[in-house]
Amino acid sequence: MGSISGQFTNTPVPGADKYYPLNDPLIGTPLPENAYPQNAKIPLLFKPLTLRGHTFKNRIWVSPMCQYSSDNGHATDWHLVHIGGFATRGVGAICMEATAVTPEGRISPQDAGLWTDSQIDPLKRIVNFVHAQGASIGVQLSHAGRKASTYAPWVHLPASKARRATQWTAEENEDGWPDDVIAPSNIAYADGYPLPKEMSKEDLQRVEEAFVAAADRAKKTGFDFLEIHAAHGYLLHNFVSPVSNTRSDIYGGSLDNRLRYPLKIVGRVRKAWADKPLFVRISATEWAEFPEHEHGEWKQWGIKQSKIYVGELKKLGVDLVDCSTGGNWSKQKIPLSPGYQVPFAAELKKTHPDIPIASVGLITEPKQAESYLQEGKADAVFLARELIRDPNFALRAAAELEVAIKPADQYERAWMHVLTPKHPEQ
Ligand SMILES: Cc1cc2nc3c(=O)[nH]c(=O)nc-3n(C[C@H](O)[C@H](O)[C@H](O)COP(=O)(O)O)c2cc1C
Repeated sequence: MGSISGQFTNTPVPGADKYYPLNDPLIGTPLPENAYPQNAKIPLLFKPLTLRGHTFKNRIWVSPMCQYSSDNGHATDWHLVHIGGFATRGVGAICMEATAVTPEGRISPQDAGLWTDSQIDPLKRIVNFVHAQGASIGVQLSHAGRKASTYAPWVHLPASKARRATQWTAEENEDGWPDDVIAPSNIAYADGYPLPKEMSKEDLQRVEEAFVAAADRAKKTGFDFLEIHAAHGYLLHNFVSPVSNTRSDIYGGSLDNRLRYPLKIVGRVRKAWADKPLFVRISATEWAEFPEHEHGEWKQWGIKQSKIYVGELKKLGVDLVDCSTGGNWSKQKIPLSPGYQVPFAAELKKTHPDIPIASVGLITEPKQAESYLQEGKADAVFLARELIRDPNFALRAAAELEVAIKPADQYERAWMHVLTPKHPEQ
C-alpha cells in the first residue's frame, strides 16, 4: 500500500536561499523524551542558552580560529567548508575568526576582514548556510595592534621544518606593512616583531570608527552575535596592560585610563549592535613571571584588574565574557593542563554571577566540559583544536553523556547508536 499522497516529502528548510533538508528538531538538540527515555535528564551542554533574545541551541561552541586564508580580507570557499562542517555536526554556535576592522589591523596578510563592503557577500553565503543548518554564527572583530604584519604560523615554521623564518615580521615585499603597525605605545611584542607607532588622536578616532563600521557590516551580513577581540596581545589588550601601554594621556597610566579606550570601543559597538548578543574575549592574565600588583603599582595585567574590567563591560551591556589568557608577554610560561583557563572563568563568575562567562582552552572531553557547567564555573564552552580534530564532538558528547540528539538528516545512518531509544537503567 502506498503512502498518503504528499505526506512523505523531503521537507526543505523554509526561507533558506537554497534547498536543504529540514532537521526537526535542530541538529545538535535533544530528541523528544517520549521516544527517547534516556532524555529524561538533559546534560547542561545540551541545554539552550538565551542571551538578548537570541537562543543558542546548545552550549558547545566553536572558538574563533584564524585560517590565514582570506583573499584581501574576503572569505573564500575554504571558510564555507571549514565553518559549514561545524554547522552540519551539531555545535550550538560558531564564532568566526579574528576579523580585522582595518587593513593594518590584520595579524597576517591573509587575515579575514570586514573593513569594506565587498567583504559582506562572501560572509553572507557562509552565514546563510549555517543558518539553514540551524546553528548560530558570530564574528570576532579585531585589531591586531602591535602583533600586526606578521606571518601565518606555517609560513614562519612549515610543518616540514625544512626552513624557519628568523623573525615574525612580514616585510613590505612579503605583503606586510611593518611601518604602519600601531599600538598604544611604541613597544614591540618581542624581538623579530614590528616596532609599533604610538597611536595618535587621529589613529584612535579612525580605529574606533572602524569598529563601529565593521559592526554595521556584521549586521548587514546577518550574524547572530558579535565578539570583540580584546585578548591575546592584540590592540585592545595592548591598551589595558601596563606592559604594553605607557601612554601619558588619558589612555595610559591608571587602570581607569588603560581601560578607557577598549571601553569606549565596546560602548560604541554596543550602541551600533543593539539588538543581538555582544561578547568580549579577554585575557584574564598575561602569565608574566612578576606579580600583578606590587608596591602600589600594577605591573602586569591579571585577574584582579580583569574583575574590575568585567564589571565595566557588564555596565555597558555586554552579554557574555569569553575568558581566555595570555598573548601579551612574550616570555609567558603557561602551566598547560586540561581546562587550564577554567579557574579564571570561575573566578570571574564568582565575582560577577550576573553576567554569563564562557571558558576555553584544553577542553577536549565531553564529561570534562559538562563538569565545568555543572560546577557553575562557566555557562558555555568554546573549543578550538579538539573541534578541528573531531568536528563531531557534539555527537560524540551525546553518545558519552547518554543523551539522544539529532544528527544532520544526511548523516543519521552513521549515528544510530545515538538514535537508539534507551531506558536510563539499561
Ligand atoms: C588555528 C587556531 C587559530 C586561532 N585563532 C584565534 C582567533 O582568531 N581568535 C582568538 O581569539 N583565538 C584564536 N585561537 C585560540 C583559540 O580560539 C582557543 O582560545 C585556543 O586554541 C585554546 O583552545 P583549545 O585548547 O580548545 O584549542 C586560535 C587557535 C588555533 C588553534
